[in-house]
Amino acid sequence: VKKIAVLTSGGDSQGMNAALRAVVRSGLYHGLEVYGIQRGYQGLLNNEINKMDLRSVGDIIQRGGTVLQSARCPEFMKLEGQQRGAEILNQHGIDGLVVIGGDGSYQGANKLSKLGIKTMGLPGTIDNDISFTDYTIGFDTAVGVVVDAVNKLRDTMSSHARSSIVEVMGRHCGDIALHAGLASGAETILVPEVPYDMGEIADRMKENFEKGKRHSIVIVAEGVGRGEDVAHALKERHASIDARVTVLGHIQRGGAPTPFDRNLASRLGDFAVRSLIQGESDKGCGIINGELVLTDIDKVVNTKKDFDMDMYELALRLSQ
Ligand code: F6P
Repeated sequence: VKKIAVLTSGGDSQGMNAALRAVVRSGLYHGLEVYGIQRGYQGLLNNEINKMDLRSVGDIIQRGGTVLQSARCPEFMKLEGQQRGAEILNQHGIDGLVVIGGDGSYQGANKLSKLGIKTMGLPGTIDNDISFTDYTIGFDTAVGVVVDAVNKLRDTMSSHARSSIVEVMGRHCGDIALHAGLASGAETILVPEVPYDMGEIADRMKENFEKGKRHSIVIVAEGVGRGEDVAHALKERHASIDARVTVLGHIQRGGAPTPFDRNLASRLGDFAVRSLIQGESDKGCGIINGELVLTDIDKVVNTKKDFDMDMYELALRLSQ
C-alpha cells in the first residue's frame, strides 16, 4: 500500500476530525501518500481529491463537524455510481480507502470493496448503530449533549411539576435514548427495540406525581415517533399530565468531541491505516471490551447491533 485516501460521509459526528487527523498522520508516519476526498462519495464522483500533509489536519482534533465536509449521496447507492467511484480511485492510483461514517457509508464501502477497492470503515456516527463495535465515534459526545439538556430541563420542570418529553436522535437505534436516559435519571425511555404501553406509562406518571415526584423525564428515541405525539397520547389518557416537548435535533451533532471520542477516533484511525499496511482490507474497525477489532465489512452491514436490555431494565429500576 502506497497511496491511501480518506473521506467522511453521511451525517457528521463529533470526532470525525480527530479520526481524519489520525488517518492522515498515521499514514504519513508510515511513509504513505494520503489523499482527502471532499464531501464524501459525492466529492469522489466529482473528483474532489486533494493531497494531505501534516498541516492539513492541524488544529482540528477539538472541532466538531468534519473539515472534509460530508454529504448523503443517492447516486452512490446505484451500481453505476459505485463503478464510477472505483474507476476514479483507480485512476488516482489509490490502493486503500478509509471511509469514516455510519451505516449508509459502510454500505458504500462494502460495494466498493466488491469492485476491488481495498476499504476500511471507521464507525463515525452519533447513533451507535454499527455492529461489532461497542461505541461509534461521536456517540459519547451526543449523549453528553442530551444529558446536559435534560439537566437544564429538570430545573424548570421541577418548578412547575411538569413532565418533559425529550425527543432524541438515533434513527432506528435507541442507544442515545438509553445511555442518556440512564445518565440523566429519566423515568421513561422509549426506544424502537422495546415495545411499550402508553396507557401504563401515563398511569405510572400520574401515580408518581401523586406520590410527590416533582418532575418526570421521558426520553423518546426518534425511531419510536415524534415527541409531540407522545405528549398528546399521555394527555389523552390523563388530562392532569402537563407535558412540554423538546426536540434536541441537530444540536446533538455539534460541539467539541469529548476526550473519549477523540481518543476512540485517534485509536481507530491509526488502527485502520496499520491494518491496511498489514494487508487487511474490506473490514470495519471497532472496539470491543477495550480491544481494537476488525470485522468483515460485509458482516458488519448485514448484522443488526444488539440492544443492551440489562442496561434498559436497570434504568427503569433506578427511576422508581
Ligand atoms: O445518522 C445520524 C443522524 O443524526 C440520525 O440520528 C438522524 O436520524 C439523521 O442523521 C438526520 O439526518 P440529516 O442530518 O440528514 O437530517
